[in-house]
Amino acid sequence: MKKKITLIGAGNIGGTLAHLSLIKKLGDVVLIDVMKGMPQGKALDLSQSSAVEGFPCKVEGTNDFSQMKNSDVVIITAGIPRQPGMSRDDLLETNGKIIKKIGLDIKKYCPKAFVICITNPLDAMVFVLQKYSKLSAAKCVGMAGVLDSSRLKFFLSKELNVSINDIQTFVLGGHGDDMVPMVNHTTIGGIPLLDFIKKRKIPMTKINKILDRTRMGGGEIVKLLQRGSAFYAPASSAIQMAEAYLLDQKKLLPCAAYLNGQYGLKNMYMGVPVIIGSKGVEEIIEVPLSTAEKKMLKTSVKSVQSLVSAVNKILN
Ligand code: NAI
Ligand code: 2OP
Repeated sequence: MKKKITLIGAGNIGGTLAHLSLIKKLGDVVLIDVMKGMPQGKALDLSQSSAVEGFPCKVEGTNDFSQMKNSDVVIITAGIPRQPGMSRDDLLETNGKIIKKIGLDIKKYCPKAFVICITNPLDAMVFVLQKYSKLSAAKCVGMAGVLDSSRLKFFLSKELNVSINDIQTFVLGGHGDDMVPMVNHTTIGGIPLLDFIKKRKIPMTKINKILDRTRMGGGEIVKLLQRGSAFYAPASSAIQMAEAYLLDQKKLLPCAAYLNGQYGLKNMYMGVPVIIGSKGVEEIIEVPLSTAEKKMLKTSVKSVQSLVSAVNKILN
């Protein structure tokens, strides 16, 4: 039987998620948005692309949230991006209320779905989503780490002049400027990055610049686009997570997962390496951290915790 994938939020990322899901034949797609006509228009456009792409799956656009009923996978991008003059708390309040309502809808219509949150501020929003949807921690995750790691892989591949596919790396912590790129766990075709650059006589200052560029990767694109934020790589990243679940791939991916003692942290969501298979988040992998990495992680944890306590005050 074909799977059902519901995309809540049919904006830039939502539309790209729909196109990728259809082209990859992952399942039938439902696009939901509050904007009248827009999800219907995108669904019609996408349906017409099947004449060229030849995908067998259907796509519907709607403003009716009950259409998420019995979804296998739900991906959430609903919300607003930060506008000039808006504080982080304004975004937290608006998107927090939206995610709370969507969480309650998921509880009602598709409590068995595997749900991926993309809406920012990511780590706080996925916490709110789990709280109100009552999904198990295994079935409720946030997408950010795959994207941040992809950015790091791309910048490294350019600097080192090697295939992006040969780079293994990940980013730990919250989806903010204080995320922690894992230099000590980065390899090029199995060779540790630090050995690789030594052999090539590449100074560490160059790598440090790449790490900073990765941390600021979202902002760099916002500045260039002038309207909106990145959407192609974010959509590809979330589809990789959905595919790992739907196809039981047991893929090791950095995702915002619920921590219950791992990395010494409890009752919070944060980016960590996890294995995704047909049960959702099947395992959280703990890696040894250097003293410097532990310190950086502590800063990132504090940022996430302050956002979560602010959003809890707003929603309670
Ligand atoms: P967008 O503005 O193009 O789309 C958002 C859509 O949400 C709009 O179509 C809007 O009408 C809809 N929406 C608003 N309230 C809604 C509600 N209550 N129910 C359903 N839909 C609703 O934004 P885009 O580019 O698609 O980004 C979406 C979110 O993803 C933003 O919060 C952005 O900051 C975040 N983001 C997160 C990333 C990550 O790594 N976690 C990466 C890139 C973006
Ligand atoms: C990004 O990293 C804005 O969170 C978004 O592109």
